[in-house]
Formats: sequence, structure tokens, C-alpha cells
Amino acid sequence: MQNLIDKLERNNDLTDEEFIVLLTADSPELDACLAAHARKVREKYYGKDVYIRGLIEFTNHCRNNCYYCGIRRDNPNAQRYRLTMEEILTCCETGQQLGFRTFVLQGGEDAYFTDERLAELIRAIKKRCPDCAVTLSIGEREKDSYAKLFAAGAERFLLRHETADKVHYESLHPAEMSFDHRMKCLQDLRDIGYQVGCGMMVGSPGQTSAQLLQDMRFLQKFQPEMVGIGPFIPQHDTPLAEYPAGTAKLTVRLLSIIRLLLPQVLLPATTALGTIDTQGREKGLLAGANVLMPNLSPTAVRQKYALYDNKICMGEEAAECVNCLAKRVASTGYKIVSNRGDHPAFASKKNL
Ligand code: 5AD
Ligand code: FES
Repeated sequence: MQNLIDKLERNNDLTDEEFIVLLTADSPELDACLAAHARKVREKYYGKDVYIRGLIEFTNHCRNNCYYCGIRRDNPNAQRYRLTMEEILTCCETGQQLGFRTFVLQGGEDAYFTDERLAELIRAIKKRCPDCAVTLSIGEREKDSYAKLFAAGAERFLLRHETADKVHYESLHPAEMSFDHRMKCLQDLRDIGYQVGCGMMVGSPGQTSAQLLQDMRFLQKFQPEMVGIGPFIPQHDTPLAEYPAGTAKLTVRLLSIIRLLLPQVLLPATTALGTIDTQGREKGLLAGANVLMPNLSPTAVRQKYALYDNKICMGEEAAECVNCLAKRVASTGYKIVSNRGDHPAFASKKNL
């Protein structure tokens, strides 16, 4: 096992068979060893720094119907909301005062937010917070739309691929959604010049190790700047409500493997990981993750952005989350820093 991990660290690669061994082993020693190697690599590039991204969940209207997601179109129990431009800008200003230098605008695929409205919003954020990066997480759009938003000042984009296996993708999404289109979107974003994030759910219903291997191969090929992964967590109003959640153990192990595959990647310990395990985010940081994405959305709308059940930090104001996170991060020996935290390949002139 030790030599497999050494090899992965050295080559950022393994054979299919070797990957499957890492993905399927049931060994606390293996997990500890993977985490130690992943930490070493993360510290080589990022030292003890943890970057924070302020997440603003600005709309839960969504035209899509993903089987796993609580804000899917056909969930009649989702209470729909949209933040106004002023509300979003207030979130950013609060965030900036708390030390955030990146805002992630995340929402469902909401037709109200046309290119024009989003471009105006992005320009307004950049005007008020010129030293901050704007990340979009708004799903699939056409290439010219992505290009307009980039021109307006957005510099990063998160679009999880969810799974790199087409058949598995089709089991998680209705026929009207296309795996190939999602992949095309990722390539378009890359071609336009965004820092791009992809990622998958871990333990989604029916997911196999062979499919996770495909995810690893996709990450190697696509070389994203950011990778967001989290356990699948059932949401009670969705078609996948009865399936078991993914595990923290496999999610944390995958964080380590991804750090060794893509040494400089920006890798969050996600809210979903903190939801299935109270120490999940700390475990993630100690296994190679270097980013946290606390919620800056107004508390009044928090519970309405319920992608999955039992999500943490529902009542806490932004400042409370930052204080809580600062303590959690301190317990790992790492520290939150207040800068944009661009990917090193994009960072030269941007990081403060
Ligand atoms: N469990 C875990 N993650 C989920 N997401 C959506 N629904 C769920 C769920 N039930 C994730 C998807 C999506 C991201 C915004 O949230 O990966 O891309
Ligand atoms: Fe939100 Fe701990 S991070 S309360």
C-alpha cells in the first residue's frame, strides 16, 4: 500500500488496477497514510493557508429536475426565492468585512437571471469589491453566455460533472439532461479562460468503484483548477429520498487521492462533508483539502436552499460561521487567510 501511495505522489498516476485497490481497500492505516502524503503535497504549494469562499445562494428557482436535488423543478415543497441585486451586494459587503476575497454566486438554472442581469450584477460586485474574485455556480448555459459573464468580470466557474460515467449520469438525471452537453460546458468554460471547477458526488445511488476510477481519469485529463466533491445525501422530497448517503470515509479518501493526482488543485472540504460527519471538514483539511466555502446567504433564505437534508449552518449568521470555522481550522494546525486564493497558474498578478 505504502508503495502505491508513493507511486501516486511521484507520478500523479496509477494503473486502473492500482486505483481500484486504493478505492476499495478498507484500511484505517491506508487512509492515514494517504492523508499524510496529501497533506505534505498541499503544504508544499499552500503551506498552512486555508482559503475561504463566501457562498451566496442567490436563487433556488431551477428549470432542471436532477433526481437527487431538493430544488429540482418538480419539488412542489421547495419554497422558491430570488435575492435582489441589493441583497446580493449586501452579502458581498458583509463578506468583504469578514475577510472574504472570493464570492461564489450559486443558484439553480433560473431563466430570470439573463446574461444581462447577471453581467450587471457581476459588474456591480466588482465595482464595490474590486479586490475580490467572482465565481459563478449557475449550471449549464451556452458558450456565448459564459463568454459575456467572463467579460463582465467573473473569473471562475464551478460546474460539477457529478459523475464521469455516462450511464451513471443518466441514472441520476432525467433524459432531458445530457452528459455530453455538461462536458461541452466544461470545455467551453476552459476555452473562454475561466478557472474551472468540476467534481462529483460520492456514494450517489448505484455508484461503483469502476465509476469512481472513471472520475479519476476524467480529472487527470481535464486538469481542473478546482474540484468540489461531497457525499450524496438524500433529500426527502426527491426520487432518491430512500437511498443511503455516501460516507465521510470514502469522501475524505478521495480528497487525498485527488490532491495526489492534481497537486496544486483548489480543493474544498465541503458543507455536505460537514453535514454527514460533524468533524468532516476538519478531516477533509487534514487529508489534503485547502478551501472552505461558508454560507453568506441571508439566514432568512438558508433553509430554502435545501439541496439535501440536515444541512449544517442553517441558523448561523455569516460572522458566526466564520468564527466557528476559524476555531475548527485552528484545531487542524492550519489558518484561514484573507486573499483571493487563485490557482497558482492564474495567480501571478492577482493574489494580494
Ligand atoms: N446530496 C449531495 N450533494 C448534492 N448536490 C445536489 N444535491 C445533492 C444531494 N442530495 C450537489 C451537486 C451539485 C451541487 C451544487 O450540490 O453535486 O452540483
Ligand atoms: Fe457555520 Fe460552523 S461553519 S456554524
